[in-house]
Amino acid sequence: MDLKEKCPVLHFNDLGDERGKLVVIEGNESIPFDIKRVFYIYGSDDTVVRGQHANRDSEFVLINVAGTSKVRITDGTEEFVVELNKPMMGVYIPKMIWKDMYDFSSDSVLLVLASTHYDGKEYIRDYQEYLKEIKI
Ligand code: TYD
Repeated sequence: MDLKEKCPVLHFNDLGDERGKLVVIEGNESIPFDIKRVFYIYGSDDTVVRGQHANRDSEFVLINVAGTSKVRITDGTEEFVVELNKPMMGVYIPKMIWKDMYDFSSDSVLLVLASTHYDGKEYIRDYQEYLKEIKI
């Protein structure tokens, strides 16, 4: 399976009508895990790079519910970039995949759905350490 297959771009149904748009994401239905945690990132801009880590135990779905950002995704061998620019699209990031988020528009609100509660110890924040762990 190549990296783009492991980290698919997801398209959610828009249940909107004349009153406005509505996007629903249900754990284990529209995304491949139960949602244990939600956080969102805003107030970033095009000068910062966030993320810069891989997670040993967590899976994520990233969605720009407002504005735009980019996610660079790598497994240490392949790499690709997803532009998150629609509230009804997201990208799935499984365990042990390195990600950088950058190029945030000033109105960017990046919503992150996670499969775990927060545990700082399951983060790998050193890229050389990441490469070592995935090559085992
Ligand atoms: P960090 O992992 O650097 O954010 P990002 O991946 O979005 O660039 O997190 C910033 C700080 O917030 C860091 O001190 C850890 C803390 N944090 C939590 O306490 N819980 C969480 O769920 C997250 C994502 C971060």
